[in-house]
Amino acid sequence: MMWMSSKALRLPDAVIGPGHDFAASVIEGLSRTRKSLPCRFFYDARGSALFEEITKLPEYYPTRTEIAILEAHAAEMAESVPERAVLVEFGSGSSRKTEILLKHVRDLAAYVPVDVSASALDDAKRRLLERFPALSVRPVVGDFSRTLAFPDDLIKAHKLGFFPGSTIGNFSPAAARRLLGAMRDMLSPEGRLIIGVDLKKDARALVRAYNDQDGVTAAFNLNLLARINRELDGFFALDCFRHEAIYDPREGRIEMHLVSIKDQAASVRGRWFRFLAGETIHTENSYKYTISQFQDLARSAGWLPGRVWRDAGNLFGVHELIACLKR
Ligand code: SAH
Ligand code: AVI
Repeated sequence: MMWMSSKALRLPDAVIGPGHDFAASVIEGLSRTRKSLPCRFFYDARGSALFEEITKLPEYYPTRTEIAILEAHAAEMAESVPERAVLVEFGSGSSRKTEILLKHVRDLAAYVPVDVSASALDDAKRRLLERFPALSVRPVVGDFSRTLAFPDDLIKAHKLGFFPGSTIGNFSPAAARRLLGAMRDMLSPEGRLIIGVDLKKDARALVRAYNDQDGVTAAFNLNLLARINRELDGFFALDCFRHEAIYDPREGRIEMHLVSIKDQAASVRGRWFRFLAGETIHTENSYKYTISQFQDLARSAGWLPGRVWRDAGNLFGVHELIACLKR
């Protein structure tokens, strides 16, 4: 992220991309030959609540595994954070993992959670203030891959970045590189980022994690169409689409799709889109990285890979990245 003015942090245009408005993005995505929708629109209030349910599923190992890694190593992660630093978290959601770090970081000037979900930020702030009444919580609602208003008085503070959950995996490697580079610019000069990244593993375990038996991930995926119906005067017959998650070993990613179960049409703000039976809307990618693959990606974005903490089962990695002096 680059500072555009003293009030805003701004990403290069290459990261911003076209059509960030919900309606424009949906119409653009559904107009493509291979239909797709950006996954950041999963997270309205209902989507954020469904994601919280996902994190508790037996099949969805990333959350509990990353929490265990943080519980074991948060003290090391927090060491060398100077007094009056600002903790900036990207895609903070419920901020449950942050609580683990907060127990070990002393005398923060502020905690700045950044998220597209206003409801998640509200709930998290309320809960954090019950637990840490002296903490200054300064939420920023917005898309961290574009311009954001950052609290003016905190711009010069030493910043520690926190980006858990493997949300970086929801970006293509090229977009992830640009985003990491922008984060480096934003967190520098002292720049350090603690980032959670899901590891490559047996494809069956991956597919299970995105195809849970209770259908919570299916409901999360289908909520995107329900959100279009609610907010964009959409007409999608929700029972005529089904959730699908597959692993593409060549790309090293889980893909989530919504599959049309028959020939049909759907509309968004009066625009109609035709679907053939079996045609899909590609709604999310979740890239998985080996430790060295992710370190290479971080290096190419101007970060020096530091320590890596992982679980004994090699399911998940938490990386420390240090900003290099020169890119
Ligand atoms: N960090 C939490 C939540 C991960 S879910 C955890 O580790 O459990 C991903 C979170 O990122 C959601 O809260 C979602 O609303 C947010 N998010 C996704 N894309 C975003 C974007 N482009 N800008 C800001 N927040 C985003
Ligand atoms: C937020 N993100 C890292 C999750 C993931 O695993 O890609 C979102 C998710 N999609 C389906 N289940 C969870």
